[in-house]
Amino acid sequence: MRTVRSKSDLLKALSPAWAAGEPIALVPTMGFFHAGHLRLMREAKKSRALVVVSLFVNPTQFGAGEDLDRYPRNEARDAELAAGEGVDILFAPGVDEMYSRGPTTWVEVPGLSGCLCGRTRPGHFRGVATVVAKLLNLVRPAVAFFGAKDFQQTVIIKRMVADLDFPVEVRTVPTVREEDGLAMSSRNGYLSPEERRAASLIPQAMDVGRRAWSAGATPEKTRQAVGAVLARSPLLRVDYVAVVHPETLEERMDSGGPALLALAVYAGATRLIDNLLLP
Ligand code: PAJ
Repeated sequence: MRTVRSKSDLLKALSPAWAAGEPIALVPTMGFFHAGHLRLMREAKKSRALVVVSLFVNPTQFGAGEDLDRYPRNEARDAELAAGEGVDILFAPGVDEMYSRGPTTWVEVPGLSGCLCGRTRPGHFRGVATVVAKLLNLVRPAVAFFGAKDFQQTVIIKRMVADLDFPVEVRTVPTVREEDGLAMSSRNGYLSPEERRAASLIPQAMDVGRRAWSAGATPEKTRQAVGAVLARSPLLRVDYVAVVHPETLEERMDSGGPALLALAVYAGATRLIDNLLLP
C-alpha cells in the first residue's frame, strides 16, 4: 500500500489505472478505523478494482463548537489496518492541500440536508457533499462505498451524484455493530463507562421500534415506543427520533410501506446516531 499526501502524487499514482481503463473503488473516511470502516474496504476489495481509501478529517463538515479539534486520529494504526485489508492507495492529504484556496465553491443538496441531522448540524452536509465531490473528481472511481450507519449521508451523496452526473456507482454497506448492537463509531471512544452502558439502550430502543412498526403502530406510536426505552437512562438525551421515507427523508404520516427509523441521541456530550430500515 502506498500513502499519498498531495493531489499531484495521487494523479501520478492513478494515471496508469485511468489510462488502462482499470476500475477504481473509493472509500472516503475520516480515519480512526474500526470494523465498520474495514467492512467498507473489504467490500471495495471484492469489487476487484484498485482500492483507494481517503483519510481526511474534513473541517468544513464540522460546526463551531463541534469536535473537530479532538476528533480521534491515529494515522500509523490506520495505515496498518488498511494495508491489512489489501488497500492499494491511502490518500491522506492535509487541510491546506485539500482546501488550498479555502472553501469557496460549495455543493449543496437542500431539502435532504435540512432534516434529521441537518437540523442540529447546519452546514454539515454541505461540507460532506463538497468534500465527497472533490474526492470523486480527484480519484475518478467507478464505484464508491458508504456505510448505512450514516444513512442520510448516503441519500444525499446519491442525490448529488445523480444531479451532477458523476460517473460513479454509489454502494451502501450495512452497519457494523458492537456485541450489544451499538453501531460502531469513531466517537464511541468519547463515552465514559457509564455512558457506554447507557448507550446499549439505543439498539434496544431501535428493536422495540421495529417490533412496534411490524405490529402496525403508526409513526407517532413507533417514535413513542423508541423514546420510552431511551428515557430509561438519565444519561441519554434525545436529539430526534424520526420515522421517514427512506428516499425523500420526509416524515411518514401513516403506518406501512417503506420507512426508515432514524435517531440521534446525546450520551453525555457525545452525539450518537443510528437508523434501521423498517420492514
Ligand atoms: P467516517 O465517519 O470516517 O465514516 C467513513 C465511512 O464509514 C462512512 O461511509 C460511514 O458511513 C462508514 N461507517 C462508519 N461507521 C460505520 C459502521 N458502524 N458500519 C458501517 N459503516 C460505517 O462519514 C464520514 O467519515 C465522512 O462524512 C466522509 C464521508 C468521509 C466525508 O468526509
